[in-house]
Amino acid sequence: MTATIDLAKARYPDLSDRRVVIAGGTGDVGEGIVRTWLKTGAHVIVPSRTEGRVKRFREVLTEAGESEKLSFVTGDYTGFDSAQAMAERITAEFGPVTDVIASIGGWWQGKSLWEISESDWQRYFVDMSTAHVATARAWIRRLPQTGSYQLVLGGSAVAPVPGASIINMQQAALFMMRQVLSAEVGKAQRVAAQVLGPVITRARLRYNDDWVSNEEVGLVSAGIAASPAVSDADYFAYDKTEMLEGLQKLGVYPK
Ligand SMILES: NC(=O)c1ccc[n+]([C@@H]2O[C@H](COP(=O)([O-])OP(=O)(O)OC[C@H]3O[C@@H](n4cnc5c(N)ncnc54)[C@H](OP(=O)(O)O)[C@@H]3O)[C@@H](O)[C@H]2O)c1
Repeated sequence: MTATIDLAKARYPDLSDRRVVIAGGTGDVGEGIVRTWLKTGAHVIVPSRTEGRVKRFREVLTEAGESEKLSFVTGDYTGFDSAQAMAERITAEFGPVTDVIASIGGWWQGKSLWEISESDWQRYFVDMSTAHVATARAWIRRLPQTGSYQLVLGGSAVAPVPGASIINMQQAALFMMRQVLSAEVGKAQRVAAQVLGPVITRARLRYNDDWVSNEEVGLVSAGIAASPAVSDADYFAYDKTEMLEGLQKLGVYPK
């Protein structure tokens, strides 16, 4: 039987002493992460490459979009130099950041590996993985041990999806980046990832009831941030049953 999750029962941790950067926060999954973190009382900062995307995003957030605890910074953050400059700018403008969540990317599918073009490869492998690596290298050493660096990834990191080879390889590379980053920072920073099945978002016209939702993903990220013992960890949630287990393990949902 499909598990059900009622977010009215969620135990949102108090993260009012935290400042989080949500890279990819304007995206489909990012929206749920932003909404959740605003409920925790944290100061939420969303970098975005374009003003237009910020404007549209503010509109969909409605009253939450007006929160004093939500800030946007427009500019590129997806290359090594621009990510570094963005980290410096955010820190100078708002103060030290405690947590970073990278929900950067998106989906691509439709060609077999032998049919992909170099521009597909550049856009969906090189550009997207570069944005993740640039974000990780710009932020990781700025974060306190009590904070967290988190990646939001898909199950395509570990299971082949015919016709989506580029995303498979990109997500698998980022899944390994999470592990090697943990191995390199040791106990100095906490690094974790979520590896997800299809996510229910505003953009989905059709979905299955047992898929996880973007606000549940946000709640896991808040739970990870609030749990000092969680480090070097991956939370897998291909469906609601696994998501429920993860939420309960993190203490952000009743048993
Ligand atoms: N959607 C799902 O069902 C699903 C399921 C499982 C896992 N995931 C994972 O969740 C993460 C986010 O996915 P999503 O569906 O939310 O993606 P999305 O809606 O396309 O949003 C991606 C965000 O990433 C930012 N971005 C930065 N560099 C980018 C680049 N080179 N190309 C495209 N976007 C870039 C964009 O922000 P700006 O334009 O504002 O800078 C955008 O808001 C990915 O790692 C994905 O694998 C998603």
